[in-house]
Amino acid sequence: MGGRLQGKVAIITGAGSGIGRATALRFAEEGAMLVLNDIQEQGLQAVIAATDFPDRHTYVTGDISLEDTAIRLAQTAVQKYDRIDVLVNNAGIHYIEDITEISAEEFDRCIGINLKSMFLCCKAVIPQMQRQQKGSIINLGSISSFIGQEMMGKSTVLYNITKAGALQLTKSLATRYASDGIRVNAICPGGTRTNQITEEHTKNAVTMDEFWKFAGDAHPVGRHGDPSEIANGILFLASDESSFMTGAPLIMDGGYLAR
Ligand SMILES: NC(=O)c1ccc[n+]([C@@H]2O[C@H](COP(=O)([O-])OP(=O)(O)OC[C@H]3O[C@@H](n4cnc5c(N)ncnc54)[C@H](O)[C@@H]3O)[C@@H](O)[C@H]2O)c1
Repeated sequence: MGGRLQGKVAIITGAGSGIGRATALRFAEEGAMLVLNDIQEQGLQAVIAATDFPDRHTYVTGDISLEDTAIRLAQTAVQKYDRIDVLVNNAGIHYIEDITEISAEEFDRCIGINLKSMFLCCKAVIPQMQRQQKGSIINLGSISSFIGQEMMGKSTVLYNITKAGALQLTKSLATRYASDGIRVNAICPGGTRTNQITEEHTKNAVTMDEFWKFAGDAHPVGRHGDPSEIANGILFLASDESSFMTGAPLIMDGGYLAR
């Protein structure tokens, strides 16, 4: 059995649903050992149960905006498998609100979950990757890393700031740690059908039919993405197939940014 991630140890945050879940299942198919995180335990148990060899994988439940959770994740991987080959900084929340309506507390919360979590996990895994002189880190950016956006009349300014930050974190770590064999890339999906989008838009009183029509129309391919399509991009970045790629965004957006 020789999968594209055979024998590699991969940490994935926010793995209980959506893109994180699809990535975990794809990685497991390709032979990886998984160390998963989510704030909700039920989703993690379900993902691991859905893999062919559940005993190979483990998880750490907790809020990934807290340093303790990031440290426990890295320690669990090293204690159980003695290495960390891949980190996917995937956990995140969407946020739609104009700047004048966002409280300072909400700003901190969104930055904490979407961006500080990436800083904390990179900080926790890089020393181990340096010891190995090899590693691949993938940060979840977005089309929102590049552009201003409004949805249903309101701005996504706060979310966009976090995703632009994810891209800059990617570049800064890529140049700093290239000589240690650590590659750092970002994946930048367009609208992808997951809970994150569903929850945010239901909260904003838009019917899902309306939203998915809007999302489909906004992408030249005429539809939203499926989490499994994004997982395939993350697999490419995690595997040695992308060995000459670092500090770069992989845009998977159905042509959204090309318009
Ligand atoms: N869905 C899209 O259209 C889209 C587009 C571009 C980028 N992204 C990014 O993809 C990533 C995954 O999002 P998704 O669309 O799969 O959404 P999702 O809501 O299905 O998954 C996000 C997961 O993160 C977990 N999570 C939330 N807060 C957490 C915390 N504090 N600690 C640990 N886990 C936490 C959630 O429980 C959930 O399982 C996010 O970073 C998101 O911004 C999504």
